[in-house]
Amino acid sequence: MSRLAKFDVVSIEDLETSDIERVFALADGFAAQLEHGDQITTAAGLIMATLFYEPSTRTRLSFESSMHRLGGSVISSADMHASSAAKGESLADTVRVVAGYADLIVLRHPHDGAARVAADYAPCPVLNAGDGSREHPSQTLCDLYILRKKKGHLKGLTVALCGDLKHGRTVHSLIYALARFGANIVAVPTSGMNVPDYVLERLATERNYSLSTVTMDELKSLAGGLDALYLTPSAPHQMALFTGDGALRPIPAAEPPAALDAFYVTRLQKERMSGKEAGAGEYVRFDARALRTSRTQEAVVMHPLPRLGELAYELDADPRAVYFEQAAAGVPVRMALIALLMEKAAGASTGPRPIAEAIRFKTEPLPRCSNPNCVTRFEGAYLAPRFTLGRGIDTTVLALKCGFCERELKTEYVGHARTHRYYRFDENQQGYVRQWIEEGSLAVFESRKQAEEAGYEPYRRGPQREIMNQEEVVGAIESLADQVIADVHDMPAVSIVGVVSHGAMLALRLRDLIGAKTGVLAPCAALDAYKPADALHPIDGAENFSVEDRIIILVDDVINSGWTVQRAMATIWQRGRPAAVKLAVLIDRGHRAVPIRPNYVGKNIPTSSGERVQVRLAAAGAESKSHDRVMIYSIVEPLKEPEAAH
Ligand code: NCD
Repeated sequence: MSRLAKFDVVSIEDLETSDIERVFALADGFAAQLEHGDQITTAAGLIMATLFYEPSTRTRLSFESSMHRLGGSVISSADMHASSAAKGESLADTVRVVAGYADLIVLRHPHDGAARVAADYAPCPVLNAGDGSREHPSQTLCDLYILRKKKGHLKGLTVALCGDLKHGRTVHSLIYALARFGANIVAVPTSGMNVPDYVLERLATERNYSLSTVTMDELKSLAGGLDALYLTPSAPHQMALFTGDGALRPIPAAEPPAALDAFYVTRLQKERMSGKEAGAGEYVRFDARALRTSRTQEAVVMHPLPRLGELAYELDADPRAVYFEQAAAGVPVRMALIALLMEKAAGASTGPRPIAEAIRFKTEPLPRCSNPNCVTRFEGAYLAPRFTLGRGIDTTVLALKCGFCERELKTEYVGHARTHRYYRFDENQQGYVRQWIEEGSLAVFESRKQAEEAGYEPYRRGPQREIMNQEEVVGAIESLADQVIADVHDMPAVSIVGVVSHGAMLALRLRDLIGAKTGVLAPCAALDAYKPADALHPIDGAENFSVEDRIIILVDDVINSGWTVQRAMATIWQRGRPAAVKLAVLIDRGHRAVPIRPNYVGKNIPTSSGERVQVRLAAAGAESKSHDRVMIYSIVEPLKEPEAAH
């Protein structure tokens, strides 16, 4: 039986800001005591178990050293191949057994979400020492501790994260923490190694934060002394501010930062890459020149280590190279983390954050996480799927967020387990889905075939009604063009971005109309908020589409919850800093889940949540507009149709 209260640190977000501050204060104290050679007995009588399913030097040895320095003891399985894991013992069983021998468990594991599993099964506290490519919270404590020590504070610092930002778990935990402390994050990913979507999503939804990305070339020109990098943003992107009075506006443009405060460099995480990723392009490499420009001379160079080729050894002698200090901070900081757990045991602070309640699926087939490295794909049937409703809801896909690895599973077909009916999801049916989740009767299917094989029949759709005819659609688009012209005086500064697919068609028609009326043909781009790799591409002849300093007219056919628009906004802000973003929609359905109000509306059509609006548009340049119309229909309300039940 552990002598510590059950308090797990699976994510850096499990620690309150006050916890992190407390860790820093305790670490300062321990560092001073270590310096004086004091005998410390804080953790006398406590036993820590380190279970490492992956190689480690710093993390395991500094955790173990910390516990010894605190006067406690350590038992260790540093090579799990020598443990019963090699015989196929599950993680759940292993941690339950080990919890009988120790007061806390420190776990490193190759699978995303493994620390969550361990925390759920172990009766003692579990500290995540790295789970797959997901998180590494104790490394972040070391990173923040050193960064703050060097700079005196964290708020307002501009930190460039460089390298493999996709698989680097230290980076993911650090991003959440930097956002929380109000630092500006500039991501400089190696090609194809961007910060993953689920991390950006979490930043946006939980912290209202969007980081900016610059290319390796821009970084090189900075590091090579050309001093040409324009860093955005100079303040964290606060999405909530876009929408203060219902209009979409960026926060006022501020001066670009005079300097970078830190480079955080990471190695390529080869062991986490799939075959097709292996040929990644040029990788960042820092040498002494990187710190010679006016913008970088105050910067510290950080690295969680181990380094490969990305930091030249010549940097080591420079006082701004702080990576060995980060590694050394591992001892006082991890001592502080253990001491914090002991304070939790003494009731000094509140418990961990509650975990959102998972959706109960009663029907087979149960959904399966789509992340090939999710712990649920390896641990076997004892791990029931755990999903909550994702926030990245596409208009045509229901996103379920895995409670272990946080990746979103996108499902197209949803069913109602009592009536055995299914339909192809679209966001207008969110109301039903939420209701079914509450009843425990939601079923999800990968395909129509899977639904039919499970004995489900398609919902019958209600009668279709035309709510806008050709003339009305043409009139509404005209009206949008007029609204834009009346509102925006600097037409040459306008660029138009259409959300695929109908928004992009509408964008071109709007551009042509505005062009005919004003003589200015705006550059156009299509934005697919759900395909980040190709999120914003020029359409119809526009080249080198840039959002920088432009007045962006964001165009979509229908706005309902506003999620797609919110996501589109985040994508735009990631590409640079526009002068303003204005939203134009053909139809406003008015069931907003996020505080966004369009600036230009073709027509307001209040509809009920079970109704589906279908927009048909003629292509820009088409002679005849006879294709233009808007239809509405409803799927049959399942609960009012008991005779349909099987
Ligand atoms: C990191 C890790 O294991 O995630 N190392 C560490 O703990 N300091 C970084 C890495 O392996 O690249």
